[in-house]
Amino acid sequence: MKFYITTPLYYVNAEPHIGHTYTTVAADCLARFYRMKGYDVFFLTGTDEHGQKIYEAAQKENLTPIELADRVSETFKKMWEKINISYDRFIRTTERQHEEVVKKVFKILLEKGELYKGEYRGFYCVHCESYVNVEDRKNPICPDCKREVREISEISYFLKLSKYQKQLEDLIENSEMVKPDFRKNEILNFIKSGLNDISITRKNVVWGIESPIEEKYTIYVWFDALLNYLSGIGYLHDEELFEKYWPPDVQLIGKDIMRFHYIIWPAVLFALNLPQPKKIFAHGWWVLGKEKISKSKGNVILPQYFIDEYGVDPFRFFLLREIPFGLDGEFSEENFKKRYNSDLVNDFGNLINRTLNLIEMKFNGYVPEGEIDESIMKISEDIYKNYTIKIENLSLSEGIEEIWKLLIFLNKYLDEKAPWREGSIDVEKTLLSVFYGIRNILIFLYPFIPQTCEKMIEMMGLEKNELMCFENINKRYAGRIKIGKREIIFYRKK
Ligand code: ME8
Ligand code: MG
Repeated sequence: MKFYITTPLYYVNAEPHIGHTYTTVAADCLARFYRMKGYDVFFLTGTDEHGQKIYEAAQKENLTPIELADRVSETFKKMWEKINISYDRFIRTTERQHEEVVKKVFKILLEKGELYKGEYRGFYCVHCESYVNVEDRKNPICPDCKREVREISEISYFLKLSKYQKQLEDLIENSEMVKPDFRKNEILNFIKSGLNDISITRKNVVWGIESPIEEKYTIYVWFDALLNYLSGIGYLHDEELFEKYWPPDVQLIGKDIMRFHYIIWPAVLFALNLPQPKKIFAHGWWVLGKEKISKSKGNVILPQYFIDEYGVDPFRFFLLREIPFGLDGEFSEENFKKRYNSDLVNDFGNLINRTLNLIEMKFNGYVPEGEIDESIMKISEDIYKNYTIKIENLSLSEGIEEIWKLLIFLNKYLDEKAPWREGSIDVEKTLLSVFYGIRNILIFLYPFIPQTCEKMIEMMGLEKNELMCFENINKRYAGRIKIGKREIIFYRKK
């Protein structure tokens, strides 16, 4: 079984902020989850480096575009390393291999009659890198970002988007591609209002992939960028890799780029006669007040502060736990701190601390042997079932809620059995059972907060690789277990 997952390629005009981090952490969580289920996973991410927007951003900083791209793509890689993103391939659209695939695709489409030469007259928004319709031609502003747009009229090559109108409607209505479901209507209405063919070359944009034809055009940056999902997995250069992983199982995007991914992208795939992605999931935005968090709004929140102040895993945890995946959410330190103190310090950290302390005190650090309480095995299995359903459905925060049912159960179980009390019975069984319950929790939590789970499993005296497979849920170890060195992982924040 294979699982191919992608994130958008982020523009190199901005350093990674929490928005980019969000999509990428979610993709990482899914990639880890499927690896633990034994799938062959391919996780693709990277940077989008061409186009007018990048060209102008570089000019502002007195850099050449490639200098800017080199610098910023490096900051993305560093950030992903810091927060443990387990990607298989980081693609840059300025790589030669990608550029060659884009040129080949252009040629193929030209030869197949999917492209034609015409003239584009209309407006262009550099910020959105998008051809737009404006309401007021005297005072043209972008309907999406409200910035001033430029009028262009130039000869260019067009992709026959309109030709796929019916097929696109059918795809969106009758397949599982568009996720969450509630996005379907908006996209369908847009398509039904009529699709125009789309210009995929630019005459006066110098920073882009050169067209493989005589005319000195560059290729439209979105056409270039979308093709990364093909070039990054071997299309037209590594047949075996491509055959193994195509089509994508999950493509994660933010709701800002739905039209490109639900219309242009599938149309390109129709034109190339390739199978469509199984799911393209559009998540919501992190907002401040009512505003989307973005570099252009000047309200970015950088991950670094939260990483320094709370740690990498509390940051990953907050992103995936705080809001239902698909909806918008408010990012505030107040909410962050609440989550951290209640979920990680109180529920989770305390449980592991008290359990290991008791094992140390009562049994010299040796995990007692004997029988595990059936109820803990049973609830672990039930939760595994529900948790799997939630995550396969991309309901990531609900997946965490399932895990918390076990955590709450174990905390209560420990309180009721009170193995610290003089004369309490079944002390061995209680601590052994909670020990295995916690081990199960660490397996469930591994896709979300891998580094913490690794630390904790070592504190429990077990091996890291025990975490990385769901078949180990409820697995008993042979021999005596001596717990490892203990430390407090989550400290309460004032
Ligand atoms: O659009 N909340 O790149 P980009 C949640 N290069 N997610 C957010 C966010 C926020 N406030 N801000 C950004 C591009 N994101 C193109 C994509 S793909 C072939 C080309 C995330 O740098 C979210 O995933 O503007 C969004 O779709 C993406 O970053 C946009 O990144
Ligand atoms: Mg953007």
